Amino acid sequence: MQGKFITFEGGEGTGKSTQLKLLAEWLRLHGVECVESKEPGGTEVGKDIRRLLVCGDKDKMDPVAEALLYYADRRIHLTQKIWPTLEQGQWLLSDRYADSTTAYQFFGYKQRVRRETLDSLYHLVAGDFKPDLTILLDIDPKIGLERSFAKAGTMSEKETRFESRGLEFHNLLREGFLEIAKSEPQRFVILDANTTIENLHQEIVRVISERFGIK
Ligand SMILES: Nc1ncnc2c1ncn2[C@@H]1O[C@H](COP(=O)(O)OP(=O)(O)OP(=O)(O)O)[C@@H](O)[C@H]1O
Ligand SMILES: [Mg+2]
Repeated sequence: MQGKFITFEGGEGTGKSTQLKLLAEWLRLHGVECVESKEPGGTEVGKDIRRLLVCGDKDKMDPVAEALLYYADRRIHLTQKIWPTLEQGQWLLSDRYADSTTAYQFFGYKQRVRRETLDSLYHLVAGDFKPDLTILLDIDPKIGLERSFAKAGTMSEKETRFESRGLEFHNLLREGFLEIAKSEPQRFVILDANTTIENLHQEIVRVISERFGIK
């Protein structure tokens, strides 16, 4: 049986990485084999693409060029890791996926990449394939960014391109994620991330157990 493909989405500091790890541990305890991954940079080649995308001057590339790099990374991630993992019957959990590209490149940058362009890039690299479930962690960006800044001292590779954008950008991003989620209600679950790590984990476990029948 095919494994499930679960993606975590949301702005900076919403708790995606924290919750992905906790869910992976919980799934393993319940007998579900799973692989933890992320975008950009979920593969060896993708790590080089990630460096181009997340390090350095925040305006070093135009949004279309950025979108193309994200989609190159995504294609490699799908062909080398996501699809093979699912075919082996394991689950794949991804820290960000295509909704982040749409949220950043279309909503955050005020539509500097056309929605149709992004949707056709998606179709080119993934066809009709979609996540089985996308968990959108939603929080006031003021709180999310505070969390991000608090952990910034521990960041390894100066991944500061997006954290350095203003609050206005992050508010657009948040609205963008919510709009995408509302357009595909069956794929998304939106969770309030302004709670403790443990509470949010329990919410996620509840959703996963209900939807996929894991006990
Ligand atoms: N529910 C929470 N309450 C308080 N702090 C939290 C919570 N969840 C995560 N944190 C802390 O906030 C910081 C950001 O969390 P995390 O790295 O999981 O977010 P993220 O969504 O992956 O962020 P980014 O988009 O920057 O990768 C971390 O230091 C983490 O320990
Ligand atoms: Mg993270």
